[in-house]
Amino acid sequence: MKDIDTVNMSADEWDEQNFPRPETHGFDEVVERAISRRGFLGGVLAFGSGAAAMGAGLLNSTSARAQQASRFAFTPIPIATDGTVHVPEGYSWQTMVRWGDPLFSEAAGDFEATQTGSVAMSDKVFGENTDGMESFLIGDHQLIAVNHEYTNRGTNLPAEQKGVPANADDVLKLQNLQGVTVMEIAEGENGWEVVVDGPYNRRITHNTQMRISGPAAGHDLMKTAADPTGTQSLGTMNNCGSGKTPWGTYLTCEENFNGYFGANGHVAVEGLAAQGRDRYGLGAEGWGYDYHKWDARFDAAANPNEPHRVGYVVEIDPTDPESMPVKRTALGRFKHENAAATVASDGRVVVYMGDDERGEFMYKWVSRDVYVPGGDSSTLLDEGQLYVARFDEDQTGEWVALTPEATGMEKAEIAIFSRIAASRVNATTMDRPEWIAVNPQAAEGYCCLTNNRNRGVKANPGGDWQPVGGPNPREVNHYGQIVRWRPAGSDHTADAFEWDLYVMAGNPTVHDDAHAGSGNINAGNLFNSPDGMVIDSTGLIWIQTDGDDSNEGDFAGMGNNQMLVGDPATGRIERFLTGPFGCEVTGLCWSADRRTMFVGVQHPDAPFPDGEGKLPRSSVIAIKRDDNGLLG
Ligand code: FEO
Ligand code: CA
Ligand code: CA
Repeated sequence: MKDIDTVNMSADEWDEQNFPRPETHGFDEVVERAISRRGFLGGVLAFGSGAAAMGAGLLNSTSARAQQASRFAFTPIPIATDGTVHVPEGYSWQTMVRWGDPLFSEAAGDFEATQTGSVAMSDKVFGENTDGMESFLIGDHQLIAVNHEYTNRGTNLPAEQKGVPANADDVLKLQNLQGVTVMEIAEGENGWEVVVDGPYNRRITHNTQMRISGPAAGHDLMKTAADPTGTQSLGTMNNCGSGKTPWGTYLTCEENFNGYFGANGHVAVEGLAAQGRDRYGLGAEGWGYDYHKWDARFDAAANPNEPHRVGYVVEIDPTDPESMPVKRTALGRFKHENAAATVASDGRVVVYMGDDERGEFMYKWVSRDVYVPGGDSSTLLDEGQLYVARFDEDQTGEWVALTPEATGMEKAEIAIFSRIAASRVNATTMDRPEWIAVNPQAAEGYCCLTNNRNRGVKANPGGDWQPVGGPNPREVNHYGQIVRWRPAGSDHTADAFEWDLYVMAGNPTVHDDAHAGSGNINAGNLFNSPDGMVIDSTGLIWIQTDGDDSNEGDFAGMGNNQMLVGDPATGRIERFLTGPFGCEVTGLCWSADRRTMFVGVQHPDAPFPDGEGKLPRSSVIAIKRDDNGLLG
């Protein structure tokens, strides 16, 4: 996600401005920072030693590079600063679907005829700002479920309104262009296209009926005038990253939900609820969506509990367009990036999740019950234990259980105010955890820590200091890094783990200290701000960026946002794709035969994909090898 258009600042910047962080810190933390700097001088922190490690020496040696070459079936591409997509020689791309394209025939031509589409058709088209996505095969129907993270008010409302909604219809149009699309796709003479009117096609918006399940369901903090049971809510919002369960459902993750809520008066809350408003960045104005002026549900003065009903992982069954999405509160409430689900060796379900805000935490959830293929999975994500990560300086760590005993909070309160619970057990403040990916070929996980200009400078929104050290080793971290962990005994349910840094992005052409990055960064693969990440069936790591694409100063030589491929074993990273200027590359999935890769291009500034004079439109593109070979 990038600018909140009418105020020209990011979600994080807005939150920080409106909810200033404590700036003081104690003597102990200063000491810790000094130790960390000294400990870091050797370069990236790697598992093991010698040839198995990925230190600078190994990766810079010619023989090692030659050995590693076979894992990459393409010639890496240079950076780009232009307005289109580039992929390696031997690969081709096409646009599959753009914001405003019809999912149902009644919406055909509406976008073009009415500038950005009519209110009436706004929930019958592909929404704006494509983000996380997953593919599904149902019989011979190929489906993609895909998130629409946010919407540009200035573009979607009449120009003279400068992004300010003037009536309830304006708000409804914005609400309808976000959420989730489920769509059938098919490959024909013109390449990949949406199957308009496909039987599984569906839009889920800020107003779709949902069920609330898990420990928070029915709690007083979840009850509203419209829903005195606290078990039914409307809509999912700021849908960022994604996940897929072993039983074939889609997980959509609610991230910067706070921006949609305002307050037309005093918000009468106390205790945890009052603390929670500050911790989650809930204010009187919101980000300018102005929903609260036209839709009372978003007015926290009238409905103080409504924000408690957002900020979750939502499970959607793509096989049944009539099914009601379920908010799985057991997985906690925070600014969810994505949800990386895997099955542990004993059959229990493990979901790794990041909370994307400066100095927030990484979480893990373990189900109580085991997953039985073909069995009843309807309550699997409701009963289990939420954990938060603590990283120690010696490259070990622990998943700390967020229990009533450890936190002094009820189970429902832990689910609703997970950040507060995690602060109470001294979790490690992280450099903005974005996507997490689990390696299908080894018991290990990876998390993109995208960047954090507050590292070593400020506390997080809860007042937890952000010391320099551990997996967050650089003060004022503009480039980001990817942390990797291996659970004890190769068991994803284990409390203990070991960790290292898979890569620290940086710029060795500008810096000669830690900001140069780790040894596997070189002039040929510069990037910043890793965000999206998926590990394919062969175990290669696809890394997507959402960073500074100015190509100047600290970011010289990095070009537009991009997608790179990494080898877990060697640390080698090469550039596979560059996006149009202004965009973030986010969202990745494959066709059932894995001969096509689908990639999201979010919020381009360039007139992508239609060219000069046309409106920039977030799009999903399809990439193939010219020899129709496998792509992951
Ligand atoms: Fe929506 Fe943290 O990216
Ligand atoms: Ca993201
Ligand atoms: Ca990001």
